[in-house]
Amino acid sequence: MSKPSISSPKVGIIMGSSSDLDVMQQAADILEEFDIDIEVSVVSAHRTPEAMMEYAATARDRGLVVIIAGAGGAAHLPGMVASVTTLPVIGVPIRSSNSIDGWDSVLSILQMPAGIPVATVALDGAKNAGILAAEIIGTFDAEVADKLANYKDLLKNKVQRMNEKIETN
Ligand code: RP5
Repeated sequence: MSKPSISSPKVGIIMGSSSDLDVMQQAADILEEFDIDIEVSVVSAHRTPEAMMEYAATARDRGLVVIIAGAGGAAHLPGMVASVTTLPVIGVPIRSSNSIDGWDSVLSILQMPAGIPVATVALDGAKNAGILAAEIIGTFDAEVADKLANYKDLLKNKVQRMNEKIETN
């Protein structure tokens, strides 16, 4: 098995259906803001199990360093992918049309058995999944770490402006 390409680290973004794309696009958008390469595709645990296994088994060799997997309802995609790869997997539970208010998606992704972790973000929390993936890359890529630091400064400034606005009212 080859080493991941640290010089041009890439994040794989997968989802169980194109109906998940509105949510998962937030991960793609924030990673693009940080100039991180992405590979976006629909891979379904239930509808295309063989393609899912192939995706997970070859992910590292394709230069991926993190996988973000989103799914709704009986959301097995992140956990199944995590069982096949040694790459970190970030799971995004999605409040899909077949979901019972989102709890099924959250619990399916969150409650993994010991030994196979999936870093689960909030319901529909794809933006945080993208930021977390960038933070993982930031552990070995100083440019990405600097961009993350700038991003956090912007958030800090935003809160400062909120307080200034409250004080002037
Ligand atoms: C899941 O079922 C997908 O991840 C999606 O969230 C949900 C519904 O899929 P569609 O019926 O919209 O294709 O596997």
